[in-house]
Amino acid sequence: MTLLPRLPSRLLVVAGLLLATTVSLVAAAGASVHHNPLTGEVVNFYGERPPPNATVHKYLPPPSKDDWYKPPDGWEATKPGAVLRTRPHAYPTINIRNAIDTFQVLYRTTDSRNNASWSVATVFIPKSHENCTLPTSSPSYNASACSHGIVAYEVPSDSADPDAAPSYLLQMREPYGEMRDMLARGWFVMVPDYEGPGASFCAGVQAGHATLDASRAVLSIAGQFGLQMDRVKLGLWGYSGGAFAAEFTAELAESYAPDLTIDASVIGGSSPNLTTVDERMNNKDTAGLVVTSILGITVQQPAAREFLLKQLQPTGPFNATRFMNATTMTGADALDAFSGQNVFDYFVNGRDDWANPAMQDVIHDDAVMGLHGVPRMPSFYYKAEHDEMSPVNETAAIVEQFCNAGANILFHRNTLGGHNDELWSGRLRALEYLSAKLDGHGNITIPATGCATLDVTIPLDPLYLLPDWWWTEGPGAGLGLAGAG
Ligand SMILES: *[C@@H]1O[C@H](CO)[C@@H](O)[C@H](O)[C@H]1NC(C)=O
Ligand SMILES: *[C@@H]1O[C@H](CO)[C@@H](O)[C@H](O)[C@H]1NC(C)=O
Ligand SMILES: *[C@@H]1O[C@H](CO)[C@@H](O)[C@H](O)[C@H]1NC(C)=O
Ligand SMILES: *[C@@H]1O[C@H](CO)[C@@H](O)[C@H](O)[C@H]1NC(C)=O
Ligand SMILES: *[C@@H]1O[C@H](CO)[C@@H](O)[C@H](O)[C@H]1NC(C)=O
Ligand SMILES: *[C@@H]1O[C@H](CO)[C@@H](O)[C@H](O)[C@H]1NC(C)=O
Ligand SMILES: *[C@@H]1O[C@H](CO)[C@@H](O)[C@H](O)[C@H]1NC(C)=O
Ligand SMILES: *[C@@H]1O[C@H](CO)[C@@H](O)[C@H](O)[C@H]1NC(C)=O
Ligand SMILES: *[C@@H]1O[C@H](CO)[C@@H](O)[C@H](O)[C@H]1NC(C)=O
Repeated sequence: MTLLPRLPSRLLVVAGLLLATTVSLVAAAGASVHHNPLTGEVVNFYGERPPPNATVHKYLPPPSKDDWYKPPDGWEATKPGAVLRTRPHAYPTINIRNAIDTFQVLYRTTDSRNNASWSVATVFIPKSHENCTLPTSSPSYNASACSHGIVAYEVPSDSADPDAAPSYLLQMREPYGEMRDMLARGWFVMVPDYEGPGASFCAGVQAGHATLDASRAVLSIAGQFGLQMDRVKLGLWGYSGGAFAAEFTAELAESYAPDLTIDASVIGGSSPNLTTVDERMNNKDTAGLVVTSILGITVQQPAAREFLLKQLQPTGPFNATRFMNATTMTGADALDAFSGQNVFDYFVNGRDDWANPAMQDVIHDDAVMGLHGVPRMPSFYYKAEHDEMSPVNETAAIVEQFCNAGANILFHRNTLGGHNDELWSGRLRALEYLSAKLDGHGNITIPATGCATLDVTIPLDPLYLLPDWWWTEGPGAGLGLAGAG
C-alpha cells in the first residue's frame, strides 16, 4: 500500500510541537478515552451543548424543545426512507470548517424491533459547492466543481440522552476534524441521528436502519441542493462508536435497502462484540460508556429495561438514581461522571446481573457484528493490532467471515499504537480510500475483488492532532493548508 508523504514544510511548521506530542502520548498511554495528545483535551463533541438560553437566532433548541422534530400525522404509514420534513439552512451558526451551509431531513425509518420510527439527518455542504444552486446559466455555475460525492458519516454518539443527538450537538463542533477534511475534498457530509428518538446507543440494527433510511431520504432530495445526482457516489465512514453504526449499516444494506447503492464503506477501530468491549471499558476512564451502552441497548427492549431497573441498587453510593442520571448526559458528561468505576457495583448481584440472559440476549441480537448480513460494497477496515478496547482478532474474524462470503475488503492492521492512536493514524488512509471510490483517485492500493489483509506500520501524524483553532485562528492560520490537520 502507499501513503501520501508528509510535506517537509508542514513538518517544520510544527517541529517545535513534536516533543510535546511525544510527552503527552506517553502520559496518555493505557487510557481509552479519545484525548488529543497535544492538548490533553478530551476529543469528542459531546462535551459541548449549545448554551441553554442562547438566542434562538444563534442555535437551534434541543430536540425535546424543537417542534420540527415531531413527525407529521400519518408518518407511520410512509415507506422507510420517506422524507417527512426538510429544513434548509438548518444551522443558524456553523462551527465546522469548510462547510458553507446545512440542511436537515426528518425521515421515516424502522427501529431494532422493526417498528416504524423516525430520525433526523443533518447534511453539511462544502464551500467548494457554493455556486451550485445557481441557475446553470449563471456565469458562476461550474458543474465540474459541484459535489457528486456524499458520505454518510457516523459520529460516535456514545450517549443515551435524546438531547445529545448529533443533529443538535454538531452545532457546536465536530468530534475529530474528519468532517472538515471530507468537506475540503468537496463531499457532502451527511450525519444521521442513528440512535433514533430514544437515543438507543449500541442498538446496532436501529443504527443500520436509521443510516440506510437517512441515505435514501437525503439522496431523494439532494438534487435540490445541487448534488450531481447523475454521477452521485455514496460513502459510509465511522470509527469506534461510529464504526459500530457503520458496520451494522454495511451488514444490513443488502437485505434492508437493496435499492440503495453504497459505493464504499470505511470502518475503523470496530468493536464487534459489545460484551467484550464493555468488559474492557469497565473500571477505566471509559466506564461511563458501559453505563450509556446498557441504557441504550435497553431503550427498545421493555423486558430488559424492567430487569435492569429491578437489579439496580436502590441505595448506597452506586445506586439506581445515579445510574439513570446518565440518560441526561452527553457521552463526555458520562465519561466524567463514571470515570474509573466498576459499573457492576450498581447491580444487586454485581457482574452476574450483567451476565444474565435478560441482558446478554438483547446484546447478542442487537450489538454483535457478523449476524445480520454481509457487506456487498467495497470496504476498508483499519484497526490497531494493540487496540485495547476491542481485540483485533474479533475484527479479523468478522473480516474473514465476510471474505469467505465473497466480500471485497481491504483490511489494514497497524502494528503501532492503540485504539485512540489509530483514529488519527488511520484518517488519511480512510480519506484516500473514500477518494478512490468516490472520485476515482485515491493514493491507496485496493484489491479489485476479494480481500487483502495488510500489516502496516503507520506512526501518528502529529499534524492531525492539532485542534481546529490552530489552523483557523492559531499559529497555522494563513498558511494556506486548507484541509490539512
Ligand atoms: C502516493 O504515495 C506514494 C508513496 O508514498 C508517493 O510516492 C506518491 O507521490 C503519492 N502520490 C500522490 C499523488 O500523492
Ligand atoms: C441564562 O440562564 C441562566 C440559568 O439557566 C440564568 O441565570 C441567566 O440569567 C440566563 N441569561 C439570560 C441572558 O437569559
Ligand atoms: C414494537 O414491536 C414489538 C415486537 O415486535 C411489539 O411487541 C411492540 O408492541 C411494538 N411497539 C410499538 C410501539 O409498536
Ligand atoms: C462562486 O462564484 C463567485 C462569483 O463568480 C466566485 O468569486 C467564487 O470563487 C465561486 N466559488 C467557487 C467555490 O467556485
Ligand atoms: C470548474 O471547476 C473545475 C474543477 O474544480 C476547475 O478545474 C475549472 O477551472 C473550473 N472552471 C471555471 C471556468 O472556473
Ligand atoms: C461475545 O463475547 C463474549 C465474551 O466477551 C462471548 O461470551 C460471546 O460468545 C461473544 N458473542 C459472540 C456471538 O461471539
Ligand atoms: C445515590 O447516590 C448519590 C451519589 O452518590 C447520592 O448522593 C444519593 O444520596 C444516593 N441515593 C440513595 C437513595 O442512596
Ligand atoms: C446527576 O448528574 C449531574 C451532572 O450531570 C450531577 O450534578 C448530579 O449530582 C447527578 N445526580 C446524581 C444523583 O448522581
Ligand atoms: C481472540 O484472542 C483471545 C485471546 O487470545 C481469545 O480468547 C479469543 O477467543 C479470540 N477471539 C476470536 C474471535 O478469535
